Amino acid sequence: MSELIPSLAELHALGAAQQPTYPDPAAVESVVGKLRRRPPLVFAGECDDLRGRVAEVAAGRSFLLQGGDCAETFETVTAANIRNKLRVLLSMAVVLTYAAQLPVLKVGRIAGQYAKPRSRDAEIRNGVSLPAYRGDAVNALGFTQAERIPDPRRLLEVYNHSAATLNLLRAFVTGGYADLRAMHTWNADFVHNSNVESRYEELSDEIGRALAFMVACGVDNEAFRTVDFYSSHEALLLEYEHSLTRTDSRTQTPYNTSAHLVWIGERTRQLDGAHVEYLRHLRNPIGIKLGPNVTGDEAAALMDKLDPDHEPGRLTVITRMGADRIRDALPPVIEAVEQTGRKVAWVCDPMHGNTFETATGYKTRAFSQVADEVNGFFDVHEELGSWPGGVHVELTGDDVTECVGGVDELDEADLANRYETACDPRLNRNQSLELAFLVADRLTSGRIRRGAVEPEFHLEDFR
Ligand code: PEP
Ligand code: CO
Repeated sequence: MSELIPSLAELHALGAAQQPTYPDPAAVESVVGKLRRRPPLVFAGECDDLRGRVAEVAAGRSFLLQGGDCAETFETVTAANIRNKLRVLLSMAVVLTYAAQLPVLKVGRIAGQYAKPRSRDAEIRNGVSLPAYRGDAVNALGFTQAERIPDPRRLLEVYNHSAATLNLLRAFVTGGYADLRAMHTWNADFVHNSNVESRYEELSDEIGRALAFMVACGVDNEAFRTVDFYSSHEALLLEYEHSLTRTDSRTQTPYNTSAHLVWIGERTRQLDGAHVEYLRHLRNPIGIKLGPNVTGDEAAALMDKLDPDHEPGRLTVITRMGADRIRDALPPVIEAVEQTGRKVAWVCDPMHGNTFETATGYKTRAFSQVADEVNGFFDVHEELGSWPGGVHVELTGDDVTECVGGVDELDEADLANRYETACDPRLNRNQSLELAFLVADRLTSGRIRRGAVEPEFHLEDFR
């Protein structure tokens, strides 16, 4: 291990937040030893490429789409599940690219998103108190003592499942599945019964014609065959993240090789805490989540620590303020960070500030509030002249019923039909596409206002 990175013991001495209490320290040590010998899941050079692409986002020349499950689970690592998540992200990315005429940087919350911070250590049901579920990386969802005891061997399973997921993703994105000319087939097994669907189909037809035109003109069609796709997760469990940190032989600097981008959560971003201390040493591009109570000074102090060199692409700031708070809470944060002289990638997570519980006990989010936070994000950035660089969403490619509202007008009674998340409620496929159209509209109108693109040609204007 590089001397540049603190040891696990040094990090724990800082009082790391949100860590499981393992009953058997020897078992933890054994797992850490095994993980340290495992091959990296990503390469340093890929992380460097991603840093360059995040810099493009920060500079206002690209848009970041980051999405996936709140919590991946071992059981749902299947070909169909991975393919469905990938294709909803690709579909959203195409909508954004085509409608807003901008390159879209695609990053999954995938291949490592297995650990969850929790607001309470214990979960109480009918008077029985057990350790809270902290993600498959830590314990199991079932409500029994045996399932809830943290088991470090699960970290090896995280590695194995992440490797399998990443392997399939790499095959999909380079092996022809992501070919733009196959965009229609990404939709094939969905019922086309909504106006989001028809809008998507219209767009695919239009893109199909544009591609055929370009190919006829002799444009190299290889470019349509593959896409770049990166992995990311919250760097929460120190044992896992630290064990997969490797010193790059070219630069002698440490990279977290379990994902291209890792982020610090709202609950573990203490300035002198273990997570900030660990992540500040990494060369990966890193994300930081900021909730509505962060002050401008705190945000600036975090940036100074995590990005002392003002390196383009180093930082992605993911704000999750809540629809009610964003218009007040975001401007001082942007102003304080801009005053430090940095250009960061500003990304909106419209999910985590908008969660509520229904009378029947389902954790849900309303599509209208998600949309409202996204609109607030664009309003604030347009007002301040900063670039609204991306969105970060919890979604799935399946037709689950976890968030209410959206084009299918799901109501609270519908939640029971297909509520499958292991943690927070995700947008289903139609809701995700609907969000992509909303974002595309905001991007297009913002760019027209800034003079970056010409308005579309409307025949009516000439009648
Ligand atoms: C999450 O992204 O799932 C999460 C826990 O978010 P936050 O850190 O913003 O609460
Ligand atoms: Co979540």
